[in-house]
Amino acid sequence: MPHINSEASIPEEKLIWDLPLRVFHWSMVLTVAIAALTGYFFEEWWLDVHVYAGYSIGCLLAFRLIWGFVGSYYSRFHTYPVKIKDVTLHLKSLMRGKSEPHTGHNPVGAWMIMVLLSSLTLLIITGMVVWGGQENQGPLAQLIGYKVGDFSEDIHEILANILMFAIAIHILGVLVETFVFKHSLIKSMVTGKKATTDTKASVTIWHTLRGAFIFGLILTGVLYWGAIAPSPFMTETHVFPAYKQECGECHPAYHPSLRTASNWQAIMNNLSDHFGEDASLDEQTTQEISTYLQANNAQSFDTEVSHKIGRHDTKSMRMTDTRYWQKKHDEIKDSDFKHSSIGSKVNCNGCHQDADTGRYDDEKIKLPKGVKS
Ligand code: HEC
Ligand code: HEC
Repeated sequence: MPHINSEASIPEEKLIWDLPLRVFHWSMVLTVAIAALTGYFFEEWWLDVHVYAGYSIGCLLAFRLIWGFVGSYYSRFHTYPVKIKDVTLHLKSLMRGKSEPHTGHNPVGAWMIMVLLSSLTLLIITGMVVWGGQENQGPLAQLIGYKVGDFSEDIHEILANILMFAIAIHILGVLVETFVFKHSLIKSMVTGKKATTDTKASVTIWHTLRGAFIFGLILTGVLYWGAIAPSPFMTETHVFPAYKQECGECHPAYHPSLRTASNWQAIMNNLSDHFGEDASLDEQTTQEISTYLQANNAQSFDTEVSHKIGRHDTKSMRMTDTRYWQKKHDEIKDSDFKHSSIGSKVNCNGCHQDADTGRYDDEKIKLPKGVKS
């Protein structure tokens, strides 16, 4: 049979979507689902899972943005029919109850993808700002202050709602195309094939290799960064040895970021009557510890704990009398604080494995067996 190559030729099943694009698509579905579930429903305790999902989405996005320029024909952004003219034509045909088949994306679908990719990009950026500002972690830990992180959280949440809305429309569009207009888009995104007379798409094994190479580079870069990234700036070595020794005798030596300068001063000026105990030290040691604590008071740290607990003076000088502390621990029973491996509410280290670093991350809370919160 002679080879016919005209507009009138019979549509053939052809490979339209390259493998890297399809793997990208379904990996995105999975990671966004994990990020959304952990973000909306399991907030705090699952924050690390949420963050890992975020890093994965970031890698996938970086890949997709590059692939939009070097992928196979229909993966490239310049092939997207996004002109206003294309969109109005498509909308008009939809109103007549028809959806013109498009080999690549149809104009509405192409716009949808732009909205999805840009809101995801903004979500990853704001997410890293929150992670750096509020938790002092990730690539922006040293750059972003607590307040900026806090503000960014609101933006992050608004963007998440926009994304959820866009995803709902995207899925609705795909369902309408599939069941009303009988264009099997879902099958295409799995097999990569579509019936078409198109001759522009020529997907080859080279696309797969190129995609794997590019993704490999991105992943290596991110993992390498993860391995060499400076660990969070507050470490135990920050603690002054004499302080740790003298003030860690009856309870843990609390991180200096947990109190205000004036509360530390008041505590140090009154060691002979220290919460009913005599904790007096010789004059020189008292002076040294007092200087250390005041120099490293909550104002000199930009962490969540320093803002929520440390910067609030209390009359009793106790951090356990701050409103934030009480709110966070109001579900813990008195008898649980007295559990043999904790002893008292002032033994922060009994439940917070990272108490000495002053971080108090959610994922570092370990309660002894039988203690519920
Ligand atoms: C002789 C034992 C002892 C020594 C030494 C000691 N403390 Fe205390 N400290 C206590 C007791 C007891 C409490 C109250 C515990 C409670 O309410 O269960 C307390 C409470 C505190 C609290 C308030 C905890 C809260 O409820 O928020 C701070 C802050 C504190 N100590 C700081 C220090 C500093 C600083 C030093 C070193 C100069 C020090 N302590 C040395 C016994 C001691
Ligand atoms: C009996 C175990 C226990 C002890 C002791 C304890 N905590 Fe907690 N703490 C918890 C639990 C559980 C949570 C999580 C509460 C929640 O998120 O609902 C928590 C939450 C927190 C948070 C909030 C963390 C965040 O990012 O949401 C801070 C800060 C904190 N604790 C500080 C302290 C300090 C300071 C002390 C010592 C004075 C202390 N805790 C003693 C169990 C304990």
